[in-house]
Amino acid sequence: MPIRWDPRFSVDNAIIDMEHKLLLTLLNALEVVLRNPHEKDSLRFFVDQLYESAREHFHHEEKLQLKYMFPYYEENKEGHEALIVELDMIRNEIYNFIDKPDSSQDEADRMSREINHVLRDWLVDHILKSDIKMKGFMNDAR
Ligand SMILES: [Fe+2]
Repeated sequence: MPIRWDPRFSVDNAIIDMEHKLLLTLLNALEVVLRNPHEKDSLRFFVDQLYESAREHFHHEEKLQLKYMFPYYEENKEGHEALIVELDMIRNEIYNFIDKPDSSQDEADRMSREINHVLRDWLVDHILKSDIKMKGFMNDAR
């Protein structure tokens, strides 16, 4: 099941919300592509997009948090670092999968479950518990 944007995810900053929507969309796309794992170019494209978009987004958020003296900056940054470690591991697994000539649907399904349980839960949890505290701090900031 794809994860859908929900108004309760909103931090009341249009750009941050847009970036969160993009990350969720890329996660959904990656899960869909894993159902057709012979599409290795698409697999590489989406995992790279997700990784790069997440890095840029975290960097943008941290920059705004510092500028607006967000009191939970450290806690939020630690969450980002942990997410990047997870993402990096999943990206490497997907690269290995792509490079293996006899990669199977079972392996793709396993990675899909991993993305589903670990990455998605973690990202949504991060938005709902940590990013949400930005509400009211930087509403119109870019
Ligand atoms: Fe965020």
